[in-house]
Amino acid sequence: MGVVILGIESSCDDTSAAILKDGVVLSNVIASQKVHEAYGGVVPELASRAHQQNIIPVVAQALKQAGISENEVNAVAFTRGPGLLGSLLVGTSFAKGFAIAKQIPMIEVNHLQAHILANFIKEPGVESRHPKFPFLTLLVSGGNSQIIIVRDYLDMEVIGQTIDDAAGEAYDKCAKVMGLSYPGGPVIDRLAKEGNPERFTFNKPNIPGLDYSFSGLKTSFLYFIRDEIKNDPDFIQHNLNDLCASLQKTIVDILMAKLKKAAKQTGIKQIAIGGGVSANSGLQKAVYAEGARLGWEVFIPRLGFSLDNAGMVAVTGYYKYLASQFIGLEAPADARMSLRKI
Ligand code: KG4
Repeated sequence: MGVVILGIESSCDDTSAAILKDGVVLSNVIASQKVHEAYGGVVPELASRAHQQNIIPVVAQALKQAGISENEVNAVAFTRGPGLLGSLLVGTSFAKGFAIAKQIPMIEVNHLQAHILANFIKEPGVESRHPKFPFLTLLVSGGNSQIIIVRDYLDMEVIGQTIDDAAGEAYDKCAKVMGLSYPGGPVIDRLAKEGNPERFTFNKPNIPGLDYSFSGLKTSFLYFIRDEIKNDPDFIQHNLNDLCASLQKTIVDILMAKLKKAAKQTGIKQIAIGGGVSANSGLQKAVYAEGARLGWEVFIPRLGFSLDNAGMVAVTGYYKYLASQFIGLEAPADARMSLRKI
């Protein structure tokens, strides 16, 4: 009999459930919350209410798509953190209720570790490539910008991280300054394709080691726009594509500089990127181009597995299941769960 894992993800504004059987993800259902668009960012209270509405239908759909019954599930893996506490509580409470009802073990999953292990997702009938250990991951999302050495599925270490804002936050906040919708990353990415990336230059941070900083960029972007609007009230509309392209180039340059430094320092040429910003076309192009130049082998999960999803939680749960790493019912949701060393 094979191992069947139910994965649950509810750390931010996506409610997701996935079914994995023997290392293969059979279903990955994601309900994204549209309610936040009107506010230009995620509203925590609204997010947890939407998770409560979504969680049961999403799990039912994941089971149905996979052709698996509730009674066939051997363990439930859930994101225990980091994320928004109210959101995490919904997934954590659901996992506990399911585990009690079915008398099966629970597996806690760190959301960041799950983004990294998304690189090991296998789907039925899909040929997939996976990184070899040790590899480096650039993990870039709305809440994190980190460089991690991955020595094994359950052995990883953060060697660089942002000291303030995350790259996705820089995208989202600069998009808000330009009056674009939330989340701003995909919108800027689309408009950037039509613009001139050399038209404007923005400050790049000077941070030692492998750490990142994005708060200065956001502030300099805001002040630049304010100054230009004094001369031309329609400055944003007249220059939108060039602004997006120049901003995107700056963010990608900042991300790539530290990734290249990390690869050089460690001598590692297996390079993966993960998290929502890894869907960015400019970043993907830069990683492939530098990869070809520097002899890297590059790995990027497909879109459905790079944004928040439960497939990555289920695959992390699978490796923890094989290592018998279970957790008791007393485990609380942990909004600040760290990945410094796993
Ligand atoms: O990993 P994710 O879905 O959620 C967490 O933050 O955990 O990442 C969401 C972030 C948002 O900041 C969004 O703007 C950004 O990923 N993002 C992108 C793109 N797609 C999503 N940023 C730049 N370009 C994209 N194509």
